[in-house]
Amino acid sequence: MGQAVETVGNPFVSRFMRLRQAGPFALTIFGASGDLTKRKLIPALFNLYKDGFLSQPFNIVGYARREKTDREFQAEMAEGIKKYSRRQPDSDEQLQQFLSTLSYVIGSFEDEPGYRQLKERLRMNALSLMTPENNLFYLATPPDSFEPIISNLNHSGLITPIADGPRWSRLIIEKPFGHDTVSAIALNHAVHKAFDEKQIYRIDHYLGKETVQNILVFRLGNSIFEPLWNRRYIDNIQISVSESLGIGSRAGYFDSSGIIRDMIQSHIMQVFTLIAMEPPASFETNAIRDEKAKVLKAVRYLKSEEISTHVVRGQYGPGSVGGEKVKGYREEKDVPSVSTTETYVATKITIDNWRWSGVPFYIRAGKRLPKRVTEVAITFKAPPHLLFDLSGCENLTPNVLRLRIQPQEGISLSLGAKVPGQALQIAPVRMDFMYSESFGVASPEAYERLILDAITGDSTLFAREDEVDLSWKIIDQITKHWDNAPLHIYPAGEWGPTAADELVARDGRRWLRL
Ligand code: BG6
Repeated sequence: MGQAVETVGNPFVSRFMRLRQAGPFALTIFGASGDLTKRKLIPALFNLYKDGFLSQPFNIVGYARREKTDREFQAEMAEGIKKYSRRQPDSDEQLQQFLSTLSYVIGSFEDEPGYRQLKERLRMNALSLMTPENNLFYLATPPDSFEPIISNLNHSGLITPIADGPRWSRLIIEKPFGHDTVSAIALNHAVHKAFDEKQIYRIDHYLGKETVQNILVFRLGNSIFEPLWNRRYIDNIQISVSESLGIGSRAGYFDSSGIIRDMIQSHIMQVFTLIAMEPPASFETNAIRDEKAKVLKAVRYLKSEEISTHVVRGQYGPGSVGGEKVKGYREEKDVPSVSTTETYVATKITIDNWRWSGVPFYIRAGKRLPKRVTEVAITFKAPPHLLFDLSGCENLTPNVLRLRIQPQEGISLSLGAKVPGQALQIAPVRMDFMYSESFGVASPEAYERLILDAITGDSTLFAREDEVDLSWKIIDQITKHWDNAPLHIYPAGEWGPTAADELVARDGRRWLRL
């Protein structure tokens, strides 16, 4: 079974690899027939293997209802690697070696027999690899299967309690983690019947993105930015997640969630906390999570009468994106023709603490917008006193720091500079840093980082129970007054409803162009 086949020449990468080598493990993926397994999880594991991070014996077990042999599962996963992996195998032998670590167990999520078979398979694999039974269970299933799977794992004796010596069991759960505060608390309760909080890895793939991780490094690893990171120097912060895609074939899930639950409660709240949190006392997992939780606690809840002025809710109608005609949301497959689910939300968040008092955080997320861009833009205040003759200064725009999360990952800072010549003319110029140019290597996929973290027992980049509850509370106080925010239909391919422009214009500001 799995052995590393390649090491990396770069000394920094090699050092990092030594620190992060996975020990022996078995990964069971529930929902192994699903898209996520083929598109993301197996390609991520293959890349970790290719890079030599999985140098100890390991095995991966797919668990799902669909009848399939080990060979068929391996062939499907080989297809997934060829189609979706960020890098291709160096040789057929390398691919085959990786595939030989994969096997498949047929079982339903609700009934016990499958779990008995799984237990036997994991025991046999550990015996033949001569490894301890270190089990990582990955729930890549629809959320209504989370509780039955956890309860069956528990009753089948598949979970090693945290105190039980060198063996370990861990659980990775995909979002959505609940639908609101009440259901998230109930789910946490169910998970805790079987797993200790230290064993639980609530995955949010945005936290695995290189550029999201860089937010803290950028803030705290450079002495020039942190002193400016507060209400004295910052005028406003905009967090934008624009997607050009619609909902594809996910109507069943999306129509009951809407973008506020799908994107804002999870990904955007995570980015928001990294931008707004206080520097932690150390880079230790709970020190970081404590600070993230504190920011969420300091977010001011909107009153019901504020919803209409602080939140804009939109849904895409028919239109065209990238020159192609596309359907409106209500015409998408399996979406009810009267659906009022939002595919766009813009809102203004304020934080009641010393650092951020009076600084608005404008947040927007939408589907079927003109392009795919995720960005945090920090606009600084204007200089307190302008020395220049005003007629020469019409182009003096505030400094804006943009953290581009995707695509073209990088950071840019706009500055005002004198245009060469006799007149005093000022024009905005940009200082750019692009990941691809500066490091010359493609960033690993988010799932690579997060899966390796879970295997090595580092939960820093996973959401803790209280973070999840707190971000649900922020969302709940909006959704419980949803009726106060009228639904605006925007044409697919445009930048959302015009009401979103009014939301920022009311404060004398505008959205920055993406
Ligand atoms: C998922 C959401 O979590 O993130 C999707 O469910 C969304 O609706 C996706 O499209 C966006 O991820 P990324 O990495 O493409 O920005």
